[in-house]
Amino acid sequence: MLIYIDSANIEEISKYQSYGFIDGVTTNPSLIAKAGIKPKNLKNHLSKICEIVKGLVSIEVYATNYEPMLQEAIEYSMIAKNIVIKLPCTEGGLRACKTLSGKNIKTNITLVFSPLQAMMAAKMGATIVSPFIGRVEDALFDGIELITQCREIFDNYDFETKILSASFRSNKQIAQIARIGSDIATVSPELLDTFIKHPFTDIGLEKFLKDAKIH
Ligand code: E4P
Repeated sequence: MLIYIDSANIEEISKYQSYGFIDGVTTNPSLIAKAGIKPKNLKNHLSKICEIVKGLVSIEVYATNYEPMLQEAIEYSMIAKNIVIKLPCTEGGLRACKTLSGKNIKTNITLVFSPLQAMMAAKMGATIVSPFIGRVEDALFDGIELITQCREIFDNYDFETKILSASFRSNKQIAQIARIGSDIATVSPELLDTFIKHPFTDIGLEKFLKDAKIH
């Protein structure tokens, strides 16, 4: 399973890229604002991210209607080869996805909360579809079941669209969607930190070193 970092912060992205932990980046308007990026600096900022990370980098359009979405998408697509245009799962977003796919521009349909939304994204030729597990579970529905259903549907019809599970609240959820066969997980830096840690590893290591009288 590929692991993307869900962040627009250059320091965080550089750190995990240098560790070799990440395969790509996802951003959204909230993360861009959190990283303090002003609209006039956005393209330059994205260009820097695309230089740091060789994998795919998703940027979400701010426009909400078909034509302005397309215009914005085409501008972003010229920043770098690894740019992916994130579009919301709306009528305009799906139509823009189909048009952009026809131009070989990579797309990521985001804010997906149902298997049928995911299926429509795949039918429109999306490169990636992003179901939001955490927000589904915040509303007391089953986010893991959402990924199970997306996987089954995509496998039934050999859709090439990649399932990118997003919006995690725990690393247990990440292990669950890895078992189901999600192609990608996008993870916050805070959760990424917990991937390799286990208290028994620390306790075990301390005992080994104590037994070896190294420490
Ligand atoms: C993914 O692409 C989204 O940016 C992200 O995972 C949303 O997560 P949130 O629900 O924690 O905001």
